[in-house]
Amino acid sequence: MREGHHVSVVTTSEEVLTACSSTPPDLVVIDLVAPRGQAFEVCRRLKDQPTTRFIPVIIVTSQTDRHDRLAGLHAGADDFLSKPFDTMELHARIQSLVKLKRYTDELESAEAVILGLGATIEARDPTTQGHCERLASYATSLGKSLGLDDTDLGALGRGGFLHDIGKIAVPDAVLLKDGKLDQTEVRVMRAHPVVGDALCAGLRSLNSVRPIVRHHHERLDGSGYPDGLRSGAVPLLAQIVGIVDVYDALTSDRPYHTACPREEAVDVLSKEASKGWRDRALVDAFVGILDPPA
Ligand SMILES: [Fe+2]
Repeated sequence: MREGHHVSVVTTSEEVLTACSSTPPDLVVIDLVAPRGQAFEVCRRLKDQPTTRFIPVIIVTSQTDRHDRLAGLHAGADDFLSKPFDTMELHARIQSLVKLKRYTDELESAEAVILGLGATIEARDPTTQGHCERLASYATSLGKSLGLDDTDLGALGRGGFLHDIGKIAVPDAVLLKDGKLDQTEVRVMRAHPVVGDALCAGLRSLNSVRPIVRHHHERLDGSGYPDGLRSGAVPLLAQIVGIVDVYDALTSDRPYHTACPREEAVDVLSKEASKGWRDRALVDAFVGILDPPA
């Protein structure tokens, strides 16, 4: 108000959650005069929901109660203020948390732009429709069956979506060509992992996705691209996306071939494992998660 903030005051937990979902504020201040358990629960619910989890929460306590602070930290609170509080201190804390929130907002919108670019690749080529979603879904299912943790599963989901983002630099004449690519066209096409990696490099939040974007066309015998990595040097998540990418490309209609049956695609992957291109255990694990033939 006096400091230029717009302030809304609500009195019940449900009102806080409804207000934060409909018009997300830059900051929430929860006064612990409310029943304590309820105040912490509101904080926890705000931090659990993807749409509200980045809203900073300050909890105001009537005294420096260690128990309250611990409960607040467990609920995900970002800061605490003890009553009676110094208004200058309150203002300073609000300023710093709001500044942090602005950075997060900027990063989130930058990430949304990159994810949107991923979708445009698919939109340019009608024959690849649903490819990114299917890849993200296959890759995370395979990751789950291998017992990978949530961080890796998140990277597989986004990596499935963004793996071909570098194709934004491939002209339609090459991307949509109905026939064999010549040498120059192959070179242009094969640049897409490096271009994609460079695109994602500007965002630290995409760091875990970059190895997938760059290395999903590597082969374990070193005959892949762009870096000709061998065996263990090919990141596991990139190997996973590489396998599901080949499977999905074979089982969908493309400009250069019609969809082949599941068994044929599995056979191709198995042959690639025999040639030393793919990890046999990973290919077997992937075949294990495919639905049995109808
Ligand atoms: Fe690719």
